[in-house]
Amino acid sequence: MNPIIEVDNLYVDFDNVTAVAGVSFSVERGHIFGLVGPNGAGKTTLLRVLATLQEPTLGKVSITGIPLSDHAEPIRRKIGFMPDFPPVYEELKVWEFLDLYAAAYDVPRETRRARCTRELERVSLMEKREALVGELSRGMKQRLTLAKTLIYDPPILLLDEPASGLDPLARKQLYDILLDLRQEGRTVMISSHILSEMDKFCTAMGIMEKGKMVSAGKLSEINQEQGKRRVRVRLLEEDGVQQKMHKKFPGVKSTTLEHDRSWTVVLSGDDRTLAAYNKHLVTEGLEVCEFTPLKVSMEDILIQSGATHVS
Ligand SMILES: Nc1ncnc2c1ncn2[C@@H]1O[C@H](COP(=O)(O)OP(=O)(O)OP(=O)(O)O)[C@@H](O)[C@H]1O
Ligand SMILES: [Mg+2]
Repeated sequence: MNPIIEVDNLYVDFDNVTAVAGVSFSVERGHIFGLVGPNGAGKTTLLRVLATLQEPTLGKVSITGIPLSDHAEPIRRKIGFMPDFPPVYEELKVWEFLDLYAAAYDVPRETRRARCTRELERVSLMEKREALVGELSRGMKQRLTLAKTLIYDPPILLLDEPASGLDPLARKQLYDILLDLRQEGRTVMISSHILSEMDKFCTAMGIMEKGKMVSAGKLSEINQEQGKRRVRVRLLEEDGVQQKMHKKFPGVKSTTLEHDRSWTVVLSGDDRTLAAYNKHLVTEGLEVCEFTPLKVSMEDILIQSGATHVS
């Protein structure tokens, strides 16, 4: 356990709304934490507090073990925040925009050029280097904002809906970038509504609803807590197999035929149960050509959490 972000009983009140209502959770170093929840759940407000842009009404926040209230300035330099509606300076050239941010964050003049090139390459905008920011498409502006967020090498990244407005290929590139950032040892918190895609890179998640964190933790732990395993089983034969798949194996909760003799089986138990089930199928005389344990999806977890109205 090595939390890099710790939030304890956080409240944020606006005039007549409590946007964050007693949130406690932590994010461990090196994780990609997916923040999900319906419109108005409080995700942006929470990220803005962590980015030191929003004063909390109550509660404690520590980043790298340092209380935010005491040392906002040094902490700010460890954090890269990408807002949901990024401000961009339309009349600057792309490289000038990045250079401006690099200078603002004290990146030494002699390394600035190389840094700009590195980040423009990362987000595939090198060929737009000399273009005006105002001439970029929405998705390109979004990618430029990500480059800006990375320009001073912050170890913690807070990304508020970075995938919105990106085409499928650009989203795939973004997710590859996130995995690279994790590989580089950074910690990422990302909010998104594209749940089905977050599965590909998130290692932890938090579900917010009406200002509360309904559930939060590492995906591996959430999976274990649920005590369920899902496995894809493909058999040679087609007919009359469901009986045998269920029969005499009490751990089986459900068997669903997906396609082409391929079944999704839900079992309650652990890895030992999975191994026993594998053996059971063979003992029942079924010819197994695939047996693949599946991750519980973020969507499954969300549904199990009881959060509602999630897009
Ligand atoms: N500056 C503000 N002044 C007043 N109310 C605000 C302000 N910012 C947010 N709120 C309110 O706080 C609540 C949470 O808003 P927030 O933007 O954090 O939600 P969100 O989860 O990011 O939603 P979305 O998915 O739409 O981005 C909403 O009811 C919103 O109207
Ligand atoms: Mg938001």
